[in-house]
Amino acid sequence: MLKKIKTLLLMSLLSFTVSSVCAQDAESFVDNLLSKMTLDEKIGQLNQYNGDWGATGKITPDGDKEKQIREGKVGSMLNVTGVDKTRKLQEIALQSRLGIPLIFGQDVIHGFRTTFPIPLGETASWDLALIEKAARIAATEAAAYGIHWTFAPMVDIARDPRWGRVMEGAGEDTYLGSKAAEARVHGFQGKGLGNIDAVMACAKHFAAYGAAVGGRDYNSVDMSNRQLYETYLPPFKAAVDAGVATLMNSFNDINGVPATGNSFILRDILKGEWNFKGFVVSDWGSIGEMIPHGYAKDEADAALKAIIAGSDMDMESRCYKNTLQKLVETGKVPVSIIDDAVKRILLKKYELGLFTDPFRYCNAEREKAQTNNAEHLKFAREAGKKSIVLLRNKNNLLPLNKNTKTVAMIGPFAKATVANHGFWSIAFDDDSTRIVSQYDGIRNHLDKNSVMLYAKGCNENDNDRKGFAEALRIAQKADVVIMSLGEGPAMSGEARSRSNIHFSGVQEDLLKEVAKTGKPIVLLINAGRPLIFNWAADNVQAILYTWWLGTEAGNAIADVVFGDYNPSGKLPMTFPRTEGQIPIYYNHYNTGRPAKDNNDKNYVSAYIDLQNDPKYPFGYGLSYTTFDISNLQLSSSKMTADGKITVSVDVKNTGNYDGEEVVQLYIRDLVGSVVRPVRELKGFTKIALKKGEMQKVIFELKSSDLKFYNEKVRYIDEPGDYEIYVGNSSAATLKGAFELVN
Ligand code: NOJ
Repeated sequence: MLKKIKTLLLMSLLSFTVSSVCAQDAESFVDNLLSKMTLDEKIGQLNQYNGDWGATGKITPDGDKEKQIREGKVGSMLNVTGVDKTRKLQEIALQSRLGIPLIFGQDVIHGFRTTFPIPLGETASWDLALIEKAARIAATEAAAYGIHWTFAPMVDIARDPRWGRVMEGAGEDTYLGSKAAEARVHGFQGKGLGNIDAVMACAKHFAAYGAAVGGRDYNSVDMSNRQLYETYLPPFKAAVDAGVATLMNSFNDINGVPATGNSFILRDILKGEWNFKGFVVSDWGSIGEMIPHGYAKDEADAALKAIIAGSDMDMESRCYKNTLQKLVETGKVPVSIIDDAVKRILLKKYELGLFTDPFRYCNAEREKAQTNNAEHLKFAREAGKKSIVLLRNKNNLLPLNKNTKTVAMIGPFAKATVANHGFWSIAFDDDSTRIVSQYDGIRNHLDKNSVMLYAKGCNENDNDRKGFAEALRIAQKADVVIMSLGEGPAMSGEARSRSNIHFSGVQEDLLKEVAKTGKPIVLLINAGRPLIFNWAADNVQAILYTWWLGTEAGNAIADVVFGDYNPSGKLPMTFPRTEGQIPIYYNHYNTGRPAKDNNDKNYVSAYIDLQNDPKYPFGYGLSYTTFDISNLQLSSSKMTADGKITVSVDVKNTGNYDGEEVVQLYIRDLVGSVVRPVRELKGFTKIALKKGEMQKVIFELKSSDLKFYNEKVRYIDEPGDYEIYVGNSSAATLKGAFELVN
């Protein structure tokens, strides 16, 4: 009882303090608060603890967490979800001497209760408004569950599909990746922090995590600063320019220095050159991991290196909590560095409005309204169908007729429900009755007099062939077979690197057996990365790459299979022919001995046992209709420094369906003071055309679009000749040329 009275008293004191500070500006409020804080309380703000689930690394016993929160020794929690739980901990935080509220963070990566396609799949839509809206909805749902902060977007460029985390990002291209990063930051943060449906975004993992050697998660990264600036940093810069509130360290070392203790990237680039005003959180335990890395000798050394480098908040390693006090007292860490880190965090708490109302994200009514929200489901279907990529459609097998008499559906993912969420769907609604399985989606679209047969055939990843016989039996009876194969939902994601990126288990054998029946097959490929499936690509009539599409997967797939939606997705990564081609990406440099074509092996840069080109190029994807892109015109054959030109093409829908096309513009800088990529994406636009319709598409190209990093890592443009390619993939052949003049 006494405790309760004390709490109420403290809360009323706080609300008094709070209302009196409302008019003050953030800086002076935070400076004033900082001046009242003890060193212990300051270090508390830099400490982040996990809740009771969702660990993605070593768990250190915390002692009594609630006691520590009450003592002001915790600044933020991750993985505490829901109005009741967050309110309870927030109340405890308010009982601390200065009553500083907690920030609650979580991985809201591709949806919250309602899930959307995995980010790589969603990026295949090349639809920035859609990408932004998915993040907006995810934020709205998460904010209603007490979450202030998402650890997203993941903006790591990834050129190696063995790396399991390619599913979380926007793929291999810097330009597309930067646009997607910007859209996602805008989506999560909405109209800005301070609005109750905004969550702080967190661009991660800073930096170059996607370049892990061999595609093995957490592995080292060794690259030139020029490559870092040119390829890996721009999406982070785009996120910063879009106002991202926070960044997260990456686990890897960069050229020998772990990112968490890397003052070159954190102090010099991020907080210096880019003038980033938000804060940096470590990745799970990454401060302490500098010890096994061989970069810090103990916790104190790790804390020293991380705080000096510019890592502001310690997620779960305890190094700051255990050692910072002494490091300051012995003069190893200036208190000004601690103050700077604390101030960055307090400013975000202020911007979130937590000093005005610490419980503003704790509203049970709002939580209820965002649970199983029907509007969000509608959008999940929209996002799902727009993310599907049609890779093959021999003899126009697709779209299927809804009156097809007998359809057999086969495969380990056909009737799966929760699997459709894919990896990183922590708070998703796992009520399987709400997730539309692929089987149910197809069944719902088929005429009610049609017959639908089902056999699982095999499991996702073992050698059991007992189900083959049943699969063959139903295939024999069918007019068309739909097979749902790929890799399991937990085979991509964090710590899910694979050396073999074929279909897992005996799925390909099952496919070959079913194909022997001679029945036409529509193959749905479920995956979190580009897979290798050459036999299918060359033999199966129709292939849809469906990634993991989220809550409405089944309906989205059926919309495409039956032609209610004409597929428009384009690959955001190059698809290799074999693992031996990896890394393979479209914007590589030429060598001094480039191969003329796939057969050229005459002392050129090639494999003697393999062609050079990929199975599917970046930007590739078919439609049920055809598009003709022609008549490339430049407004001028010369561009002046600080000038621009326009590039136009005519795009005509020449097939039998209305449809959408992603028109892509690439450039090539023919001669540079450093070698330049054979192609670089510089613009794209997605347009809808009715059958027979034609539209002129106009791109504007500025001299700033031609800039690159030279040998000295200076950002420059150079006069000279450029080629332009416009088309519907990175293999576009329609060509123009211009010169950049002084
Ligand atoms: C580790 C992952 O690398 C990171 O992306 C994630 O945000 C944290 N764990 C928290 O779950």
